[in-house]
Amino acid sequence: MKNKKIYIAGHRGMVGSAIKHKLEQEGYKNLVFRTSAELNLTNQQSTDEFFASETPDIVIIAAARVGGILANDKYPYPFLYDNLQIQNNLINASHKQNAEKVIFLGSSCIYPKLADQPLKEEYLLTGPLEPTNQWYAVAKIAGIKLIEALRRQHNRNYVSLMPTNLYGPRDNFDLETSHVLPAMIRKFDDARENGHTPVPLWGSGKPMREFLYVEDLADAVLFAMENNLEQSLYNIGTGKDITIKELAETVQKITGHEGEITWDSSKPDGTPRKLMDVSRMKNEGWSYSTDLEEGIRNTYRWFLEHRESIKEVKM
Ligand SMILES: NC(=O)c1ccc[n+]([C@@H]2O[C@H](COP(=O)([O-])OP(=O)(O)OC[C@H]3O[C@@H](n4cnc5c(N)ncnc54)[C@H](OP(=O)(O)O)[C@@H]3O)[C@@H](O)[C@H]2O)c1
Repeated sequence: MKNKKIYIAGHRGMVGSAIKHKLEQEGYKNLVFRTSAELNLTNQQSTDEFFASETPDIVIIAAARVGGILANDKYPYPFLYDNLQIQNNLINASHKQNAEKVIFLGSSCIYPKLADQPLKEEYLLTGPLEPTNQWYAVAKIAGIKLIEALRRQHNRNYVSLMPTNLYGPRDNFDLETSHVLPAMIRKFDDARENGHTPVPLWGSGKPMREFLYVEDLADAVLFAMENNLEQSLYNIGTGKDITIKELAETVQKITGHEGEITWDSSKPDGTPRKLMDVSRMKNEGWSYSTDLEEGIRNTYRWFLEHRESIKEVKM
């Protein structure tokens, strides 16, 4: 198994780099990667040529156009088109080159906005999506169905993993395009540095969210790689959620900010609650190991080590 050729698409991203780190730690030596500058995965011909020359045994799809509510709302077309192209090209080339395993990563926004909580895999396509990120969600749902179709028609041992909100080292901390947790870490750290000034946060603080440390997700990908899973689709999460207000207070405590938190309820809250049912993956023998406070501490430590380079990046 350790000599299999493994292609990690998106190896420089938050998720891809955590997976690369995990596999190297586990002694996997035959890893292949390309940056988006070296291989634009929206280009089918370049992707096919890469697969024909490298013929990977295992393909991990962690490449995608990713972003928070603001980015999804502002750039709907590339969030749909680019993600469709990237996954279609990777899944199709894997099948044509007889890759023995593909692990396709999506996210919990695939489920209907008002589905019962916690979200079960069988709730897929049972109701309307959250409008702000429907473009990205529709692309990921198409990817899930491609994987399911290849399992059914060609008995492919391919699987889709749907992580909940992820956070950790190498996340995107840009306030324009990042997710809620990295944005909070940056805001509280900036405010602490400026003498504990007030921190303005979006919405009411009432929505409830689930967060998984990205290194736990990498561990789930390793588990899915080394085991043949029964089903085509699995939720990956902790099965626990907290309010955005509780999250803010936890980040405030960890960053050492002693000032005020203000809530701008003119800004959207997004989905009221988004908690995953993680029993299917648990029944296969995998569950998470890093609690939220420990994960945020590790992430903040990484943020402080890379703060200057983070503050220079303009998206
Ligand atoms: N972040 C989350 O909270 C979260 C939650 C659930 C699921 N996920 C899933 O995890 C996956 C990765 O997310 P992430 O947070 O790691 O994103 P990220 O940090 O933005 O990384 C995205 C990666 O995709 C690559 N990429 C983007 N467009 C490409 C293209 N046209 N050609 C080749 N490579 C391209 C980028 O390559 P370069 O670096 O070379 O440009 C980058 O390495 C996504 O499928 C996402 O659905 C993420």
